Amino acid sequence: MAFYMVISHKPPCVTIAINATQRRKNLKSLLAQKAFVLGFPSISQVKEADYLGVESGYDADKLKNIGFSTSRAKSVNAPVIHELRLSLECEVVHTVTVGSHTQVTGEVTLWETWLTREFWRNLSRKPLRIMVISITSSTMLYP
Ligand SMILES: Cc1cc2nc3c(=O)[nH]c(=O)nc-3n(C[C@H](O)[C@H](O)[C@H](O)COP(=O)(O)O)c2cc1C
Repeated sequence: MAFYMVISHKPPCVTIAINATQRRKNLKSLLAQKAFVLGFPSISQVKEADYLGVESGYDADKLKNIGFSTSRAKSVNAPVIHELRLSLECEVVHTVTVGSHTQVTGEVTLWETWLTREFWRNLSRKPLRIMVISITSSTMLYP
């Protein structure tokens, strides 16, 4: 999102603004679910981020077209894009239409980085799981 900013530390809140005078699938789903996930791409994902911003979900399966995958967010009813580096899961707490845009404020209910997600995913693989368990148990034995 180009129209985005952090607006509160306690509780952690962000505000985005979506053009309500245009056909926007993201605004429709966000208002219906009262939730959204804000995903931050890395510099190497500029091309993908740009494509997501010029194509509409009404006209194409955007994520499939760029090979991105999703799953349901842990704390809200919205999808998380696995490939993005940082995801902020947000519950809608306030909306107001200001001119052309609907300004939506979301309380961040959970944040997850690509690294932590990879860590938990890899944890199901045996060697790493054994390593983590051994580190944990040795720390407990020899504090
Ligand atoms: C880098 C970038 C940032 C954008 N930021 C916003 C934004 O903050 N608000 C907005 O209404 N549209 C923004 N857009 C335009 C929408 O993302 C675009 O209209 C998109 O196709 C809407 O898709 P949808 O119909 O699936 O919701 C942005 C586009 C780009 C390329």
